[in-house]
Amino acid sequence: MCGIVGILGKTSTDVANALVTGLKRLEYRGYDSAGMALLSQGSFHRHRASGKLVNLEALQAEVPLVGNVGIAHTRWATHGIPNETNAHPHMTERVAIVHNGIIENHEEFRPALLSAGVQFKSETDTEVILHLVDQALMQGLAPVDAVRKTLEKIKGAYALALLFREHPDVMIGARHGPPLAVGYGQDEMYLGSDATALAHLTHRLSYLEDGDIVVLTSRSVETLRLSGERVQRPVREHRVSQTIADKGAFAHFMAKEIHEQPETIRQTLGTYLNDAKSGLQHPDLPFSWHDTPRVTIVACGTSYYAGLVAKYWFESIARLPVEIDIASEFRYRTPPLPKDGVAIFISQSGETADTLAAQAYAKAQGQHCLAIVNVPESSLARAADCVFMTYAGTEIGVASTKAFTTQLSVLAVLAIAAAQARQTISQGDFQNFCKALAQLPALMDEVLICEQECREIAYQLTKAHDILYLGRGTSYAIAMEGALKLKEISYIHAEGYAAGELKHGPIALIDDAVPVIAIAPSDALFEKTASNVQEVIARKGQVILISDEEGHKKFSHPHIRRLVLPSTSSCCILSPVLYSVPVQLLAYYTALIKGTDVDQPRNLAKSVTVE
Ligand code: F6R
Repeated sequence: MCGIVGILGKTSTDVANALVTGLKRLEYRGYDSAGMALLSQGSFHRHRASGKLVNLEALQAEVPLVGNVGIAHTRWATHGIPNETNAHPHMTERVAIVHNGIIENHEEFRPALLSAGVQFKSETDTEVILHLVDQALMQGLAPVDAVRKTLEKIKGAYALALLFREHPDVMIGARHGPPLAVGYGQDEMYLGSDATALAHLTHRLSYLEDGDIVVLTSRSVETLRLSGERVQRPVREHRVSQTIADKGAFAHFMAKEIHEQPETIRQTLGTYLNDAKSGLQHPDLPFSWHDTPRVTIVACGTSYYAGLVAKYWFESIARLPVEIDIASEFRYRTPPLPKDGVAIFISQSGETADTLAAQAYAKAQGQHCLAIVNVPESSLARAADCVFMTYAGTEIGVASTKAFTTQLSVLAVLAIAAAQARQTISQGDFQNFCKALAQLPALMDEVLICEQECREIAYQLTKAHDILYLGRGTSYAIAMEGALKLKEISYIHAEGYAAGELKHGPIALIDDAVPVIAIAPSDALFEKTASNVQEVIARKGQVILISDEEGHKKFSHPHIRRLVLPSTSSCCILSPVLYSVPVQLLAYYTALIKGTDVDQPRNLAKSVTVE
């Protein structure tokens, strides 16, 4: 959440333009306001604008800021409403700052700062850091000492970039929690929230560790711990694409990303299936599935639902007990974890604050930590014992689609590998699982044919205030994922329930205004779900049944709207991946018809670096 770019440039560099380009690449982290400050001719010059980045660009076009040194920020509001006054950078005459994170003890410092005559201009927690640094500078401390002295007092999470009027060739960065990369240019230095933010400037990067402060000049880098001890962070090449992704022929990134799924799954499985598509190849594991007493899976949001599907797979195929939790709960409930346990952390961004904290807890408990991530240089990947990449490519739409189905693909590989190692399936079954995985890209292409029908059903959904999604087994997880997708982009209230739970409460919600979307491939649980659907019909609910031909043949009713998917009866691994597509499309078209901002829905951000 929030994105940071900083440039210590040369006279020849168009710093303002380069800052805006960096922000464009970071807009996925927050888009409720943006700003930048440049230092030139002995003072700071600043533009800030509420709303999307285009508003900042318009200001810059009207009154161009110039200078070779600057910091910029795109915001996801935590403290203070998303308006211009709360937008970063915040600055005094002497210092300018941008911040990603939350300062938990900012209230503690306000009384003393107020009595010292400080006038707060915003409602942000960041402004407290600004004034603490400013006061330390006024006391005669050097920039690095002023920052260190301030950070010693601060509790919470931060990635910071600061500029100093009296030291135009100095930029300071600091990290505790959210990531911060240092970029190395030709007589230029940069700070950025990730490699993508700096891809138009450099590929040579180092990443700060928690508790690091970095002092940059255009020709030098000095990294210190808060204690003052000097440290070195390795500089590596990070080849991320310089091009800003475009939507191609699609109206939205989300639509494009839904359609990319056959290819992204092909890419991902291409890495983990052998050439004959009858076996697996994957990174060496620092543990043995055979000796593992239990798997713990932790993630947030959509990534958590991918984990929930995998729980069913690990338990049924590999006969491995699985505990699963959302990271924000797991990290604080001090769960006992078994000796030789394996903990799997799933994250598209690899920067989700709660998932990172959960991984740190599991590590401290001696678990073997395996990360499934889409960003190889992410914090989660760097801290894991073992990384399984998803190859979804950059996902721009805030609502996760292709990242989810590639996570499912990797989790399927792991469950099958575990089953083979634990000898809970025969060699023949193992090969059949691999062959089923190999069919997934083609089947995904086939599923996308249901797009037009999803669009028609979406007209019905837009009229609803509440929508229920039902499923059993792995379809229960897809029901929850479908409800999450719908609510986050269409703002219609939706819930996913285990179909068998319906009569324990939620059935009270059903009347003729409530659409109920039943996800029911014709598997061993089909008849059970069909009975629950009968109960809905009896109460006049509007049922949309997503199943295959066989399921629709077994159960039809004049009041059911049918959505037909290819058969998945040959393998239990196929259905959750394929049934993700119609729930994504239903959410997409409902939002499209409602006219909401599909790719950047309100109040959300793509990378959740605060808890
Ligand atoms: C929903 C969505 C979120 C993320 C969640 C975790 O469409 O994208 O629920 O899944 O914020 O993010 P990552 O996977 O980056 O840890």
